[in-house]
Amino acid sequence: MEKDLIMPRHVAVILDGNGRWAKEHHVPRKLGHKAGCENLEQIVEDAARLGIEYFTIYGFSTENWKRSAEEVGALMQLFRYYIGRLRDVAMANNVRVLSIGERSRFDADLIDGLNMLEEVTSGNTGMTFVLALNYGGRDEITRAVRRVAANVAGGELAPEEITEDTISAALDTAGMPDPDLMIRTSGEQRLSNYLLWQLAYAELYFTDVYWPDFHKEHLVKAIEAYNARNRRFGGR
Ligand code: IPE
Ligand code: IPE
Ligand code: MG
Repeated sequence: MEKDLIMPRHVAVILDGNGRWAKEHHVPRKLGHKAGCENLEQIVEDAARLGIEYFTIYGFSTENWKRSAEEVGALMQLFRYYIGRLRDVAMANNVRVLSIGERSRFDADLIDGLNMLEEVTSGNTGMTFVLALNYGGRDEITRAVRRVAANVAGGELAPEEITEDTISAALDTAGMPDPDLMIRTSGEQRLSNYLLWQLAYAELYFTDVYWPDFHKEHLVKAIEAYNARNRRFGGR
């Protein structure tokens, strides 16, 4: 039963399989992405209602620019449209939206849209929904190291004063708890450069279900599996 479950504070998802879903339905890839975006709208609401505190979704990786111009263009169009839809979902469900990743590579209107989404939802006190866009764990760590190095070069910090907390605070996820549970849909069992630092102790859950078909019942199943795991680690 859902009500008996201990909710992980932070669930991080790699939404994968939009392309395979489209193939299975004999429709163009971009319709797979559209179905994926529609599913995202619903699952954000479901996650908020389940009582998850932080819900982070990998929407576009630093490597995804290597896809065809047509596919990247279709994805950008979808992001533009779904930013507005997500605002409505967030406002209806008291959800605060944040984004992580290097935004500057996106077109100005998309950056404005993301800023708007963060601003408009900043007073919401329920779940925090984190969108990872043009996100790569190595890129994030590289940018963090640059920031810390600049502080050292500026004389504000001595090298021996750098701790794990210094690094955590320089990441895009500063202030957020690390994910307790990482879910990847669609059968692939790799991290694909997702939250490399933050996932150090997360439970990993893989399902064959394609992202557009991943609904609340699948999320609950993943949380049940998480509940059944023995969270003993780090000497405890
Ligand atoms: C995930 O679906 C969406 C993004 C990475 C943007 P894919 O497009 O990777 O779908 P598959 O892996 O080809 O099925
Ligand atoms: C990971 O999915 C990135 C996102 C979900 C945004 P990919 O489909 O791009 O990853 P690979 O290529 O299978 O590693
Ligand atoms: Mg994929």
